[in-house]
Amino acid sequence: MTTKTSLQKTLGTWLTIGVTLLWLLGVIASGLVARHEMNEVFDSALEETAQRILPLAVTDILNRENDTGHHRAPVLKDHNEYLTYLVRNPSGKLLLQSHDVDPDIFGALPQEGFFETSTHRFYGEAAVSDTIYIEIAEPLAHRRAAVLEATLTLLIPLLFLIPISWFGVWWVIKRSLRQVVLLQQSIEARGGSDLSPVAVDRLPKEFEPIMVSVNRLLERLRRALEAERSFTANSAHELRTPLATALAKLQRLNAETQDVQIKSRTGEIEESLRTLSRLSQKLLELAKAEGGSALSENDNDLVPILQMIANDYEREAPGRLVLNLPDDSVMSLLDPDAFAILVRNLMENALRHGAADRPVNISLTGEGTLRVANAGEVVPPEKLALLRNRFVRSDTKTLGSGIGLAIVEAIASGAGTGLKLRSPASDQSDGFEAEVNIVVGHTDV
Ligand SMILES: Nc1ncnc2c1ncn2[C@@H]1O[C@H](COP(=O)(O)OP(=O)(O)OP(=O)(O)O)[C@@H](O)[C@H]1O
Ligand SMILES: [Mg+2]
Repeated sequence: MTTKTSLQKTLGTWLTIGVTLLWLLGVIASGLVARHEMNEVFDSALEETAQRILPLAVTDILNRENDTGHHRAPVLKDHNEYLTYLVRNPSGKLLLQSHDVDPDIFGALPQEGFFETSTHRFYGEAAVSDTIYIEIAEPLAHRRAAVLEATLTLLIPLLFLIPISWFGVWWVIKRSLRQVVLLQQSIEARGGSDLSPVAVDRLPKEFEPIMVSVNRLLERLRRALEAERSFTANSAHELRTPLATALAKLQRLNAETQDVQIKSRTGEIEESLRTLSRLSQKLLELAKAEGGSALSENDNDLVPILQMIANDYEREAPGRLVLNLPDDSVMSLLDPDAFAILVRNLMENALRHGAADRPVNISLTGEGTLRVANAGEVVPPEKLALLRNRFVRSDTKTLGSGIGLAIVEAIASGAGTGLKLRSPASDQSDGFEAEVNIVVGHTDV
C-alpha cells in the first residue's frame, strides 16, 4: 500500500527545514567571524590598556623613595575588574598590582606579548630597558560570553522565520494549485456521460502534459463508446425489417397449413421471433438512452404522461394498477419521450415480475419522487445490487432479456438523477420497489 503525501505539506515542511538549516549555518559562520573580529578588538584593547598604564606605573615606582615593598593601585570606586594587571621586575618581584588582581593566575616570571592560559588571555610589555614589566590579564569567560550573546541574538529571528516560512510556502503552493483544484472539481462535477475535453489553458505548465493525455484518453473512450452505441442501434434497427418479414411469412404459413404438428412448431418459432423482436426493440431503446442527455430544452408537466401510460397498461391488466398522483402539475426538464420509456419499463417489470394477483402501486409526489412498487418474492440484496446491469435477471421464470432496468438507469443518470431499487418494498414485508426523482434541472447534470 502506498501512503499518499500532500504536495503542500511536503514542500512546506522541507522548505522550512531547508531555510532553518541554512539560517543555522549562517549563524554559525557569523558566530565564527564575530569571534575572530571580537578577539582582535579585545586584544587591541588589552595592548592599548597595558601601554597606557605602563608609563604611569613606571613613574609611580621610580618616585617611591627607599620603598622596597609593592603597592596596590588605589580603588577609586568599588567595581568588578575585567582587566587586572601586575607590574613586576624581571625576576618576578611584585612592584604594583591592580586592586582586584589574583596573582596566582600569572606565571612566576613576567613575559612579553600575547599569551593564554586555560582561563585568561594575557599581554605583557616591558619598559625602562626591560627592568619593569606589566602583564595585563582578561578572563576568557568574558570573551566567550560576548560571542555567545551575539550568536544567540542572531538565533532570535528563527522564531519568526520558521512559522513565516511554513505559512508562506503553504500559501504560495495553495495559490499555485488553485487551478488544479478547480479542474478536479469541474471533472468531479461533470456526469459520467460527459466525455468532452477538459480545459487546460489555465493550468500550471507542469500539469499540462497530464491533462493533454487525459483528454486524448477521453477522446478515445468517447469514440469507442459511440462506436459501440451506433453498432447496437444500427444492428437493432437493421434487424427489425427482416424480423417483421419472417414473422409475417410464418403467420401466413401457419394460416395455410392444417397440419397440427407444423402449426405447433410454427407457433414456437413465432414466439422465438417475437422475443428476438422485443430484444432488438429494447437494445434500440438502450442505445438511445445511453447516447446522451435525457433532458429537453423546456419544462414539461409529466403527470399527464404518466396518467396516459398507466391507462395503456390498465387495458392489459385491468384493476391491478393503483395510481397515486399529485393534484398539481410536476414540471421537469426530463425529456417526455425518455420519461415515457422509463415509466413503461418500470410498469412492465412490476406487472410481469410482481405477484400476479396483487396490485401495483404507482405514486408520484409533488416534489417529483416516482415510486413503482409491487408485491412478490423478495430479491436478495446481492442480486438486487446487480439488477441494473445489462442482461442481469433475478429469476428465469418470467419473460425478458434483462435490459429494462439498464435502460431506466441510463435515462436516470443521463438526466443527472439516480435510480433506487428496494426489496422488500417500503412499508411492505415483501415485493420490489423502484424509485426515481424525476424533477431535474440543467444544473444537476
Ligand atoms: N418489479 C419487479 N419485481 C420483481 N423483480 C423485478 C422487478 N423489476 C425487475 N425485477 C428483476 O430484475 C430483473 C431485471 O429486470 P429488467 O427489467 O432489467 O429485465 P427483464 O424485465 O427481465 O427483461 P426486459 O426488461 O429486458 O424485457 C428481472 O429479470 C427481475 O428478476
Ligand atoms: Mg424489464
